[in-house]
Amino acid sequence: MSMLNDVACVLASQEELKQICKDLGEQITKDYEGKNLLVVSVLKGAVVFMADLLREIKCDCRIDFMAVSSYSGTKTTGVVKIKKDLDVDVAGCDILIVEDILDSGLTLSYLKKILEDRNAASIKICTLLDKPENRKADIKADYIGKVIPDEFVIGYGLDYDEKYRNLPFVGVLAEHVYADK
Ligand code: IMP
Ligand code: MG
Repeated sequence: MSMLNDVACVLASQEELKQICKDLGEQITKDYEGKNLLVVSVLKGAVVFMADLLREIKCDCRIDFMAVSSYSGTKTTGVVKIKKDLDVDVAGCDILIVEDILDSGLTLSYLKKILEDRNAASIKICTLLDKPENRKADIKADYIGKVIPDEFVIGYGLDYDEKYRNLPFVGVLAEHVYADK
């Protein structure tokens, strides 16, 4: 069975995603010219977006990765566990956190707090997708690719049960996939 059978509809096509990366990259290049940019990506969902966005950023930058997981049963409190920390010392860096999707915002607000304690020069957030309807934490992204309705999406790095990350577009997960579970 093809992955495509599990896509209810396309929310952001390959062409649109390409344009989003171009536009965001242009803004970020302007804003970070002459600064000490460190692009931080949150594994694993953001890697596809990060890879495309990076090639649209034309000023000097470094990259690093973090992996986090929600403590089981406490997702609503936004307490996350760091599974892989940054390699770089962020003191004095202008951090740009790159995320796949900002949903409740609990993960990112916790992550931002952790990084705020490390003496970075600045911290901003760039998210490919924003689902503002479901926000629980008081957090906003500084750069947003696309605002989407409160639906479960897959592709372009985003997964359902670790599947569909390799779809080249963002689509809504078909109901039959999780109805069977
Ligand atoms: P938050 O803490 O609720 O903002 O959750 C953020 C994380 O949940 C994202 O980085 C994704 O990994 C995951 N997530 C939230 N919504 C979706 C979705 O629609 N599809 C796939 N993953 C999602
Ligand atoms: Mg994620």
